[in-house]
Amino acid sequence: MTVWIGTSWKMNKTLSEATEWAGGLAEFLAGRQLGEVQPFVIPPATAIAAVAQTLREEPRVLVGAQNAHWEDAGAWTGEVSVPQVADAGARIVEIGHSERREHFGETDETVRAKVAATLAHGLVPLLCIGEPADVKDAGGSTAHVLEQAARALEGLEAEQLGRVLIAYEPIWAIGEHGRPAGVAELEEPFAALGGAYGHRVAGLLYGGSVNLDNAAQLLGIAHVDGLFVGRTAWRLEGYLRLLEIAVQHATARP
Ligand code: PGA
Repeated sequence: MTVWIGTSWKMNKTLSEATEWAGGLAEFLAGRQLGEVQPFVIPPATAIAAVAQTLREEPRVLVGAQNAHWEDAGAWTGEVSVPQVADAGARIVEIGHSERREHFGETDETVRAKVAATLAHGLVPLLCIGEPADVKDAGGSTAHVLEQAARALEGLEAEQLGRVLIAYEPIWAIGEHGRPAGVAELEEPFAALGGAYGHRVAGLLYGGSVNLDNAAQLLGIAHVDGLFVGRTAWRLEGYLRLLEIAVQHATARP
């Protein structure tokens, strides 16, 4: 089973920073076996083409977009479409990150439309779900994420669902103000997501304050097929260490 190790850079990195990171990754990977580990990187839209171009000799790394509109083209000032990000070299589209839901009006409905558009164009939707702290405190984490996933994936056929990645990213665990989640807190939501989607989607990922100290433990949680990482992976060194941890994990599995 594939172990996914990906990063989204959010609104960070200039073109030269982006190509330096991608060039360093290509250099690190040259001649190196990754086994079942699947790397991916999701730059800001401005850098998708440059990162894809820098990684052209390293097709094992998938490049993604942080967002794409559900329409193919038209009067949608400021937006980019799935065919446009595909044209730039993206093969994954991140959809429904909590920052987009909170600040940019992303709803279950727009998330569903974007998942459908991404699948229609043959790209991989990376659906992000996760509950806020008050829902967790009230004991509602699992119900919340199951509901979000169901709404986003409603109506998909088995073959389409099989191409979807889901990242469970509890909002209370994400970013500078996030608190790293303990393994015990994640077991129940992953058991539920695994029961509902485990063998039906391409992978179930965990995201939120992943770091070099907790990555191996997080990968060991039942039904976790990979990690989706922000800050720790923005420095290339951090990302390379995560890849090594994942290769070790994949090799040690029974
Ligand atoms: P973080 O970000 O790893 O910096 O917490 C995770 C995310 O937002 O996906």
